Amino acid sequence: MAERRSISSRLRSYAPRAVTPVEPQAEGRITRSVGLTLEAVGLNVSVGRQCEIINNDNRRIEAEVVGFSGDKVFLMPIKRVEGLQPGARVVPVATQMGMRIGPQLLGRVVNGIGQPLDGKGPLIGDEFLDFTPSEINPLQRHPISEPLDVGVRAINALITVGRGQRLGLMAGSGVGKSVLMGMMTRFTTADVVVVGLVGERGREVKEFIDHILGEEGLRRAVVVASPADDAPLMRLRASQLSSRIAEYYRDQGLNVLLLMDSLTRFAQAQREIALAIGEPPATKGYPPSVFAKIPQLVERAGNAAEGGGSITAFYTVLTEGDDLQDPIADSARAILDGHVVLSRRLAEEGVYPAIDVEGSISRAMQNIVDDEHLKMMQRFKQLLARYQQNRDLISIGAYTPGTDPDTDMAIERFPHLRAFIQQGIRQGVHMPESIANLKALLKPPANSKGSSPLAAQHRAK
Ligand SMILES: Nc1ncnc2c1ncn2[C@@H]1O[C@H](COP(=O)(O)OP(=O)(O)OP(=O)(O)O)[C@@H](O)[C@H]1O
Ligand SMILES: [Mg+2]
Repeated sequence: MAERRSISSRLRSYAPRAVTPVEPQAEGRITRSVGLTLEAVGLNVSVGRQCEIINNDNRRIEAEVVGFSGDKVFLMPIKRVEGLQPGARVVPVATQMGMRIGPQLLGRVVNGIGQPLDGKGPLIGDEFLDFTPSEINPLQRHPISEPLDVGVRAINALITVGRGQRLGLMAGSGVGKSVLMGMMTRFTTADVVVVGLVGERGREVKEFIDHILGEEGLRRAVVVASPADDAPLMRLRASQLSSRIAEYYRDQGLNVLLLMDSLTRFAQAQREIALAIGEPPATKGYPPSVFAKIPQLVERAGNAAEGGGSITAFYTVLTEGDDLQDPIADSARAILDGHVVLSRRLAEEGVYPAIDVEGSISRAMQNIVDDEHLKMMQRFKQLLARYQQNRDLISIGAYTPGTDPDTDMAIERFPHLRAFIQQGIRQGVHMPESIANLKALLKPPANSKGSSPLAAQHRAK
């Protein structure tokens, strides 16, 4: 029987925030507002502190301290600002940022500051989650040693993901990132999925939740959404909140899959903030703080200490113009433990999910699969590469079958290699089936000794 909870504990579940006592602070006044930045004087607050800006008409705007210079304090609004007046009061707020959390949060959609967006009423939860990141001593982190089934055949078999691994999902726009993330949400064997939708089109948020995730996907997922028209601080917060929620479930001993779409928009939000408060741009307009914030965010995923839960994370990285040398893509590749590349060429040929197996790598794979599986993965890649190297010759009929047994096999198996990558949106393929399919695909031809049926056919002519 469910444990009866006292009225006071039930009331606490509804309390939106925990209030911590703080010393009274001096009020400030807004003296300048340029672009996104607000300047105030008369405040004695630290960076990161929440403030409320109170207009003469008593309208309140939530803002955060993002920097200072001499006695001037720079603030950024968390939501969009309208009708701000010179001289508006700035009052430091005495609340600790956080939200209610528990198993009840599954199936909900929240914004970057933990407010519900789905119209299903206030968030209910037994615990209060404060937004300060939890820290794990790197020496205590459990190493990546077990695979995580993501329900996608090509990834399970050829780019096997380990529990606690962090990967990039690199792709240009419209190549199928959202659909692939939706498939993973529905078919993974992870206990909980946290989806961060950061800086994408507002229309896409609803489409993703209603059509791509559907009820089935949403049942064990929490979505944190902050579309492109949100203030940059809100978008930044949404990325951080997704990680924070994932940390909470991990600390409960669960295996969490965190899907963040996109890391590029997170970096762009940080760029907007940093440039607005006067940080100089460095690489392609990105100030140095952006490259410091990416590892800070990504490092929050991973395994907990021995016996604890895990956060396996996919961060999508937009490679605009399909340029893999983008500074964000570069920085992500350096910090992540692997990447899955989606190829526009495959998508154009109608191969979905458009996973470019040759360009993708899971750096943890060799530690989590057996030798046979590893060899099969290498063989698959070899055959694919062999076909691509000879593609031009094959297409004009200049290749003579029987010249090279490997190329013969690559030609014969190529349609099967393609079919192996393809998977329907509504079809989940689990790990054992993925490996069995790979094994069946690479079985040597039964009707010949060392030579392929293609060569045999040619000889017969
Ligand atoms: N597995 C799939 N099967 C069939 N069609 C697909 C598949 N994945 C993607 N598509 C097609 O590609 C289109 C774009 O996919 P999706 O929205 O996932 O791309 P995206 O990379 O998230 O785009 P954006 O950069 O705009 O967010 C879909 O509308 C759909 O038509
Ligand atoms: Mg998308």
